[in-house]
Amino acid sequence: MKKILSYFWPLKSRFHSKFSGWLEITWLNGKKLLNSKNTNYSYGSLQKVLRYGLSEVKFRPDDKVLLLGMGGGSIIKVLREEYKHKGQIAAVEIDPVVIEVAEKEFGIRALKDIKIIHADALSYVQNTNESFKLIIIDLFIDKNVPEECFSVDFWEKISKLSEPKAQIIFNAGMDLRSDQKIREIISKQERHFDFILLENVMGRNTLLLALKKMVNV
Ligand SMILES: C[S@@+](CC[C@H](N)C(=O)[O-])C[C@H]1O[C@@H](n2cnc3c(N)ncnc32)[C@H](O)[C@@H]1O
Repeated sequence: MKKILSYFWPLKSRFHSKFSGWLEITWLNGKKLLNSKNTNYSYGSLQKVLRYGLSEVKFRPDDKVLLLGMGGGSIIKVLREEYKHKGQIAAVEIDPVVIEVAEKEFGIRALKDIKIIHADALSYVQNTNESFKLIIIDLFIDKNVPEECFSVDFWEKISKLSEPKAQIIFNAGMDLRSDQKIREIISKQERHFDFILLENVMGRNTLLLALKKMVNV
C-alpha cells in the first residue's frame, strides 16, 4: 500500500540518530530510501554512485569484501543481486540506529554471509588482521566524509588490509571544491596502489579507485 501511495506523494518517517542528527525513511515512486538531512544514505543516488564504482573495477563472485559504512546496505544488495556475489561481506557501521534500520526496513539479515560489525570504521581498520579483495569506503556523516579518511595513517592501514590486486572504491565526497586532499593520497600512496580518479559521478560525487600493487616498491 505504501509503495502505491508513494507514487502520489512521498511518505516519510523520521528518527533520531546520535551520529547523523536525524534520519528518514522515505517512500518515493515505489522505492524505499534512507536519507539524512541533506543527502541520500542508501537506495537512492548513493546506490547509483557506488553501482557505477563497481562497474569500473574487476572482482570475482567469491572475493572477500569489506564495506566501511554499511548504511541501509544498498550496495550489498547490488553485489548479491546484480553481480551474483557470494563471498563473505564484512560491513562496518558506527550507528546502532542505522544497523536496526538495515535489519528491519531493508532486510539485511536475510542475506547470507554478511558479517555486521558495530564499530567505528577508523578503529576497525587499525585493529583487524583480516585482509580483503574488494574494499568499499563509504563513510559519511550527512554530507561530510570524516577527515581521517584522507590521512596517510588511514591509507597505510587500508594498504595492509588489501590483498595483492585488491580493488578499493573510495566515495571521497560530494561537491568537492578542491581535489587537493585526494591528490595527496595519490602522491603519498603510489608505491602501494595505482589510482583512477572519477569526478562528477552522477553529477556530484568524486570516486577514487585504487588497485593494490602486487609488490610494494
Ligand atoms: C552513505 S551511508 C552508507 C551507505 C551504504 N554504503 C549503502 O550501500 O547503502 C554512510 C554511513 O557511514 C556511517 N559512518 C559514518 N562514519 C562512520 C564511522 N567512523 N565508522 C562506521 N560507520 C560510519 C554512517 O552512519 C552511515 O550509515
